Amino acid sequence: MKVLVIGGGGREHAICRKLAQSPHVTELLCAPGNGGISEIAECVPIAAADIHKIVELAASSAVDFVVVAPDDPLALGLVDELENAGIPAFGPRKNAAIIESSKIFSKNLMKKYGIPTADFQSFTEIASAIAFIREKGAPIVVKADGLALGKGVVVAQTEDEAIAAVRGMMEDGRFGKAGASVVIEECLSGTEVTVLAFCDGKTVVPMVSSKDHKRVFDGDRGPNTGGMGAIAPAPLYTPELARICEERIFKPTIDALNSEGRPFSGVIYFGLMLTDKGPCVIEYNARFGDPEAQSVLELLDTDLFEVFRAVREGRLAETPIKWKSGSAACVVMASGGYPGDYAKGKPISGLSDVPDGVFVYHAGTKSENGQYTTNGGRVLGVTATGAALDDALGLAYSGVKAINFENAHYRRDIGRT
Ligand code: AMP
Ligand code: GLY
Repeated sequence: MKVLVIGGGGREHAICRKLAQSPHVTELLCAPGNGGISEIAECVPIAAADIHKIVELAASSAVDFVVVAPDDPLALGLVDELENAGIPAFGPRKNAAIIESSKIFSKNLMKKYGIPTADFQSFTEIASAIAFIREKGAPIVVKADGLALGKGVVVAQTEDEAIAAVRGMMEDGRFGKAGASVVIEECLSGTEVTVLAFCDGKTVVPMVSSKDHKRVFDGDRGPNTGGMGAIAPAPLYTPELARICEERIFKPTIDALNSEGRPFSGVIYFGLMLTDKGPCVIEYNARFGDPEAQSVLELLDTDLFEVFRAVREGRLAETPIKWKSGSAACVVMASGGYPGDYAKGKPISGLSDVPDGVFVYHAGTKSENGQYTTNGGRVLGVTATGAALDDALGLAYSGVKAINFENAHYRRDIGRT
């Protein structure tokens, strides 16, 4: 089988690495890929969101199966376009990917079907948004409706901060069209857990749980990022909690999407807050998380291509999926300045000096004449497994110590908060 993976971050590196291990996958392409991915797949320089060029590439290269990993092409309907062209594709269609691409849609869905989430209201007018903030008081959470690279959420500690966020989104167009409408919601407190699940429209199969670290600095300080590291499984996510989430959140979400005529096929991401009133949905995504995928897929003990194909063909219920015991940890090394402005093109050293058992996923790198250089905000995801979480973390951090690039920064407390 000739398989094409769409995307070019650490998540796609993890997906490509798993697919490269499958005996079914004889040829692997990735668009656009990155430096690390080019070691295991042929990288084609087409942007993930350039959906027409991607369909052309898949057709002209006689690709048998496409895996669409990032949010943008899913929201743009790449899976629909590929399937319409007769090319089997893994991922939700546009009408189901909306669960991520519109927060107003997903909040209304949860409200309609009684799925636990923070109380909210949505706004298209700035004056009523501000009046609502004044009425509710702080802390309060402001979210851009559309996709904003994980940066469209402000957890405001004061009314002024919330109002400034609303103005930035609705008046100054900080996120373009994505911020023209906003959700304003109750601030929840508790521990966050991510549960990714395979779903074929009928059956939902949760993967091992995980925990992302979204803030840029140690102690969960500083602005939100795409994710500075992840562990799997999440220690607080007990079998009892898993049962409650399946019953109150996972199944009801899939059933709700079906009732709305939007069957979901692909990976659904449940961002959960474990509150003292029980688990609540913070957000849905229509794809694997990044860096959660790097940790979770380390523990997968089944051929990923077989799982993808079973999902696409609606055979998930008959497909056994096995997980390794133990834990995985991924520590992201980022460019200085990220999630703000940062420089690119810094040479990376020490990649071959990491201890045995460490795998370095490339998130934003380029390979030029055998030298890797930085090419993004998140540069590397240094990943390891171990019998216990401490073993996985210890090994991943010893990998981080071996690697260097100018102004590299990483959190020292992954798995600890
Ligand atoms: P999201 O992009 O929706 O996952 O939001 C980014 C981060 O903002 C989440 O991971 C939470 O840490 C935080 N957040 C989002 N919604 C809420 C909420 N209602 N209450 C408290 N924190 C929130
Ligand atoms: N790590 C968070 C996300 O992928 O959305």
